[in-house]
Amino acid sequence: MVKSLGSDNHSGIHPKILESLTKVNYGHSPSYGTDDLTQEVRALFKNQFGPSAETFFVFNGTAANVLSIKTFLKSYESVICSADSHLNLDECGAPEAIAGCKLLPLPSPEGKITVDQCREALIRGGDQHYSQARMISITQPTELGTLYTYEEMKSLAVFCKENHLYFHIDGARFILAAAQLNKSFKELTEDIGVDVLSFGGTKNGLLFGEAVIVFNKEKTKDLKFFRKQCLQLPSKMRFLSAQFKALFTNELWKEISMKECSMALYLAEKINSIKELEILYNVQVNSVFVKLPKAWVKPLRESHFFYIWNENDWSARWMMSFDIEKNDIDQFVDKILELKGGA
Ligand SMILES: Cc1ncc(COP(=O)(O)O)c(C=O)c1O
Repeated sequence: MVKSLGSDNHSGIHPKILESLTKVNYGHSPSYGTDDLTQEVRALFKNQFGPSAETFFVFNGTAANVLSIKTFLKSYESVICSADSHLNLDECGAPEAIAGCKLLPLPSPEGKITVDQCREALIRGGDQHYSQARMISITQPTELGTLYTYEEMKSLAVFCKENHLYFHIDGARFILAAAQLNKSFKELTEDIGVDVLSFGGTKNGLLFGEAVIVFNKEKTKDLKFFRKQCLQLPSKMRFLSAQFKALFTNELWKEISMKECSMALYLAEKINSIKELEILYNVQVNSVFVKLPKAWVKPLRESHFFYIWNENDWSARWMMSFDIEKNDIDQFVDKILELKGGA
């Protein structure tokens, strides 16, 4: 079977995650997170992220982001984020429609925003005509497959504290960041002063499920109610909890991350010398962004599906799932070489 390079949610469920679902599929259990397993897994999150971490499972990543904003901000407040962020480009205006807050998108050539840019964006404090910046949201790893360094994360966190801003991380693929930066989840969140994290599951081998992790005690009680109001309270919660437990067991998250990142590097190395292809960003996690000849797009996509990231310059994203193997990449590169031969 030819595998897709479209996204890390094109693959199926990781076998160990699937096993965790069948294991929990017996008898009856209380609903809405009041079951023992969910309590156990929420404690597990505290072990991983620090004692202040309060975890709320939700169905999808867009909801995790929107709930993070809704819980922390008032409707006259705004979120500084990257113009390339999922929040800004791929949530169909959900932050504005549901959290009711404005986004302040900043240009981010490599998917990252800087402290200097945020400082420049912090204008008109107290001006009743202007939406008040109250949160910085970064995506880690970014939508362009790059990583904020640990120091960059810390500087943004310090800047937030100095300027009474909340710090949110969209971590749909946060496991990749922790693995690649070689830091614990706690070091990348509670220790540096993150207020709220959208922690991904679906892109990382789960059937579905994400977690909103709040590090700010005052806000946890609000999130509980907003989650329900926003239609995101899963009733058979134990099936989400079981999957996250499996993700942490024996550091499955690290195994998945290392594999995906090494496959992206393998692809990047194999195509590096093909002059028709331009690798656009540092390959730091599980995706390779390339500019490719327009004529190659259709035949390549017919064999291995992928997304065109920018229709104006025909750049594409090739993304690795946990089950992409070297021979899948070899097959894909052979197809590229076939096209090159015929060019
Ligand atoms: C960085 C990032 N954040 C959030 C999401 C949202 O996830 P969902 O599609 O589950 O709403 C995605 C999904 O592509 C993503 O890539």
